[in-house]
Amino acid sequence: MDESTFETVLLSTEQIQQRVGEIGREIARAYPEPGDLHLICVLKGAFMFLGDLIRAIDRTVTIDFMAVSSYAKGTTSSGEVRLIKDLDTGLEGRNVIIVEDIVDTGLTLAYLQQVLRARSPRSLRTACLLNKPSRRLVEVTVDYIGFTIEDRFVVGYGLDYAEKYRNIPYISVLQNNGQ
Ligand code: IMP
Ligand code: MG
Repeated sequence: MDESTFETVLLSTEQIQQRVGEIGREIARAYPEPGDLHLICVLKGAFMFLGDLIRAIDRTVTIDFMAVSSYAKGTTSSGEVRLIKDLDTGLEGRNVIIVEDIVDTGLTLAYLQQVLRARSPRSLRTACLLNKPSRRLVEVTVDYIGFTIEDRFVVGYGLDYAEKYRNIPYISVLQNNGQ
């Protein structure tokens, strides 16, 4: 891995762990047991966030995975969202939380919320690790936000540039903005 690709650390491992812990505790308080709480991880970017988040939620949870594609191999959105992998189980009558890595234009999340709401969950909320509000094209509701950041292309902690850098344990800004 070429470390020179990265600028300084935008969000450190410690900052991420602390904030994810807070969100986990907030979710546990908002959904006291008993009852169903089903978290849907949006692959691939949110896998690390999901892993840390569920360990911070001190109650019974179930998980499932969904994959969508909105960016081909660059840093600009095509505006097109495709469902690549669907869920294993239905959502009817369940308390569902979508777990996403980042909300940028909002197109991916708007699509996901629409698709999942149509499956009649009892409740549908969204948790996003990162929020880039300056780039929003459509309005979306995000119930749990880790960090709001500037319009910079970030990698690490699950987030990629052309499928690389997901394993960096912190969040970093891509030096050349991926161009
Ligand atoms: P949106 O549809 O424009 O909101 O884009 C959401 C998706 O684009 C996220 O799930 C990410 O996979 C990807 N994305 C947006 N911004 C970044 C970034 O700064 N780094 C890595 N991936 C990003
Ligand atoms: Mg992605």
